[in-house]
Amino acid sequence: MEILKIKGGKPLEGKVKAAGAKNAVTKLLVASLLSDKRCVFYNVPDIAEVEVTVELCREIGSEVQWDRNAGVLEIITKELKSSYVPQRFSGSNRIPILMIGALLGRTDEDIIVPTAGGCKIGKRPVDFHITALEKLGATIEFREMRKEGAYFARAHEGMKGAVITLPFPSVGATENTILAAVRAKGTTVIKNAAIEPEIVDLILFLQKLGVTIGMDVDRTIRIQQTHQFQEIEHVVITDRIEAASLGLAGISTKGRVFVEGAQHAHMITFLNRLREVNAGFEVKKDGIEFFYKGPLKGGIHIETDVHPGFMTDWQQPFVVLLSQAHGASVVHETVYENRFGYTETLRLMGADIEAFTQCLGGKECRFSSQNFQHSIVVKGPTPLQSKDIVIPDLRAGFAYVLAALLAPDVSNISGVHYLDRGYEKLVEKLSSIGAEVTREKTSDSILKPLVKALAG
Ligand code: EPU
Repeated sequence: MEILKIKGGKPLEGKVKAAGAKNAVTKLLVASLLSDKRCVFYNVPDIAEVEVTVELCREIGSEVQWDRNAGVLEIITKELKSSYVPQRFSGSNRIPILMIGALLGRTDEDIIVPTAGGCKIGKRPVDFHITALEKLGATIEFREMRKEGAYFARAHEGMKGAVITLPFPSVGATENTILAAVRAKGTTVIKNAAIEPEIVDLILFLQKLGVTIGMDVDRTIRIQQTHQFQEIEHVVITDRIEAASLGLAGISTKGRVFVEGAQHAHMITFLNRLREVNAGFEVKKDGIEFFYKGPLKGGIHIETDVHPGFMTDWQQPFVVLLSQAHGASVVHETVYENRFGYTETLRLMGADIEAFTQCLGGKECRFSSQNFQHSIVVKGPTPLQSKDIVIPDLRAGFAYVLAALLAPDVSNISGVHYLDRGYEKLVEKLSSIGAEVTREKTSDSILKPLVKALAG
């Protein structure tokens, strides 16, 4: 088992480059399966989620060349070899379910995909995906298969465009519906669609590919059936979650970090929150510099939301920042019902955080009467103590790394594979801005009891 060893207490200073966005590139790879033409992607991050997605695409017939150092990936899927996504991808990430949308119009065979995985941050059902795809003409059944579940999807009568109103602007359901709509007869209209920058990147990619696709002002996306595709090149947008995380590392350690590639337009809400807590930032021509400019002010209220709201994936490292700010702040999570479990470890490290089932702050959200601890109050500033920590999911993982960077002694962090899913060369990047961090192999006999105790 591998661990990160972090000795904190030092300000981070320097320049670091944010990678391409995990939540864009993985979907773009799946979208490339719609066509039989070559697609070349630039700014591809060297992360495990891309590895898994590439493996998935190869499994169904894609030829892929990936130069990890250059961040360039070429993919072409002249013919589908299979439309069966093996069970070993079950629970791996959120990508297999998108195969249904991408492949429905490309094969008459059943498309078989295992149940969706991803971080354990709530129930994460796929009912919106299924309902929307059925409305376009797909038949989807859930069957038990080798003790696990799999979705069997087909559209033997062909697919037909429809007007689909999503119950919530789900990122994944919007993507799946867009992908299926490209091959569905006529026009498809998605109302109450997600409009995250990663979705816009998908729309831009599809437009280049040959699809007539556009967005109205009111979360409506229109897609026309497309038969002919073009070879294309596409530069993946920068990861706004990684950019924010690295910026927060600079601010909370009382340092100054220039995040090259951070895209202003995708971080407006985040930057406004930084201003509210008296954190410094300066938007430069090729990135954003983040810096500490004096005591941080708490007393703010954050509500996570769909775009253009405050991202649910910015929430975790921002909570660590709030633990260093003067006053009590409220954070209300409205996207996932169960995304504060990680705060327990921050409490053990010395943070003053209390969780509530009520919707604290302005608005009542979908979880108001469901008894989930989805609001917290963070009181600061509190010094954090180093600890041995087990990461429960990707974004909580970075919050722990940040907490460890603030604590003066050595923290041992296990569950590093979660970080590998979404943060490119994390150890190298943090070291380059002055962090004392190493990745080490540890014997299981030392770590297993710890993991068990913390998991229990
Ligand atoms: N939802 C349903 N039914 C559905 C789909 C979603 O109830 O059929 C609910 C979810 O349970 C959740 C909410 O709707 O409460 C939002 O889910 P959404 O579908 O928008 O999320 P996702 O597509 O599964 C992506 C990102 C997440 C990010 C969310 C929100 C990927 C691979 N994942 O997930 O990123 O938090 O959108 O922006 O794109 C991460 O990167 O660590 C991560 C979790």
